Amino acid sequence: MSNRTFTMIKPDAVENGHIGAILKKINSAGFRIIAMKYTKLSLEKAQKFYEIHKEKPFFDELVRFMSRSPIVVAILEKDNAVEDFRELIGSTNPAEAKKGTIRNLYATSMGENAVHGSDSDKNAVIEGSFHFDPSEILS
Ligand code: CMP
Repeated sequence: MSNRTFTMIKPDAVENGHIGAILKKINSAGFRIIAMKYTKLSLEKAQKFYEIHKEKPFFDELVRFMSRSPIVVAILEKDNAVEDFRELIGSTNPAEAKKGTIRNLYATSMGENAVHGSDSDKNAVIEGSFHFDPSEILS
């Protein structure tokens, strides 16, 4: 069971003024924020972060979107963090996301889906290290 996951509040949610509401839901669900930054991805950095999707038909759309405006990146701690966070954010497609999940409340489309959550413990570590130096993470 993992105790850490990585999240991004994506450009659509930041542009629409949902940072505060999303952080409140994250805290209310029992996650502890152990690292956080307000930042902006360059196109190159977005391409690197999403390298795993580079053959997908939506890759160009995805990296253009993710580098369009600021994002919030954070590492979260909680028992069973990866799985519980994916439950909290809901399905990738907001039309299929359960009522009350972050994507149900704040996402606009499959591509512009408000938040990211790591899909495995391994990726949580890789994605967290992409954005944070060890010295920036609370223990
Ligand atoms: P996420 O799961 O955070 O990381 C991969 C992202 O690719 C996903 O969120 C969506 O933002 C995007 N994505 C996945 N499927 C599609 C799709 N069919 N069309 C456009 N974007 C997509």
